[in-house]
Amino acid sequence: MSLVSVERNGAIAVVLLNRPDALNALSDKLMDELVSTLEDLDRDEEVRCIVLGGSERVFAAGADIGELAQTSAIELYYQRRVERWDAIRGLWTPLVAAVSGYCLGGGCELAMACDLIVASESAVFGQPETGLGIIPGAGGTQLLTRAVGKPLAMDVILSGRRLSAREALAAGLVARVVAREAWLEEAKRVAREIAEKGPVATRLAKESVDRAFETTLAAGLEAERRALYLAFASEDAKEGLTAFTEKRKPDFKGR
Ligand code: CAA
Repeated sequence: MSLVSVERNGAIAVVLLNRPDALNALSDKLMDELVSTLEDLDRDEEVRCIVLGGSERVFAAGADIGELAQTSAIELYYQRRVERWDAIRGLWTPLVAAVSGYCLGGGCELAMACDLIVASESAVFGQPETGLGIIPGAGGTQLLTRAVGKPLAMDVILSGRRLSAREALAAGLVARVVAREAWLEEAKRVAREIAEKGPVATRLAKESVDRAFETTLAAGLEAERRALYLAFASEDAKEGLTAFTEKRKPDFKGR
């Protein structure tokens, strides 16, 4: 059975974690499948936005604890399991996380590796790793802190406090909260909106926003200007600007 399902729907792709018996725990096999699926979709120019979700009950309950219990530090190091997450954060295609239910540990880190999170009001976010005697290892200490600030990140990571969807929205971790039954539909709707924009522009914009977390303001502004010039040189920019003046919908080609 495939641990990840993929559905293509025009310019968007919907990727769902499919390991219900273990609450979508991110086993080695599941992560391999997920990364290779996302990389394939990322290479497909027709795909302009990807939705990544779990089920209504659970986005993902974290790394596979049974597997971790059997793994030595040296195995972890040699298998480069954690490095695999860099591939997800490095995707070009915009990624919308559709989160419903539990979003814990590596699950929360996976949602944070996406570009934005659409959460159902049932979503529960947390980094419970210290309760297991380990720490978040797939970006949690860095990404959560950047998203919500030090005091709340420390609370969540040190005490195991879980955040409701509303708390996560107020703290800046999630972009939108929607009714429980709308968790996937709303994420698809957001993805379709993104997919309608100029694909060169959305990719360059994603890269520029990410840059804000990597560099100084001056260097970030300089990188943004260069990305703007590149966007300007695209056929899509000509099409987008002309379509507006001609009062019609643009027909972007991703060129
Ligand atoms: N790994 C492996 N199996 C898991 C799992 C996980 N992270 N989370 C749940 N499961 C399994 C359970 O063992 C159980 O399996 P069985 O039916 O075979 O016993 C099944 O999924 C259902 O789970 P529960 O019976 O516990 O369901 P619940 O509704 O009572 O509780 C829960 C749900 C609160 C999410 C609870 O399952 C839980 O606390 N899970 C662990 C959460 C966690 O600690 N995550 C962090 C993992 S470490 C990590 O992610 C490291 C990192 O950053 C790299």
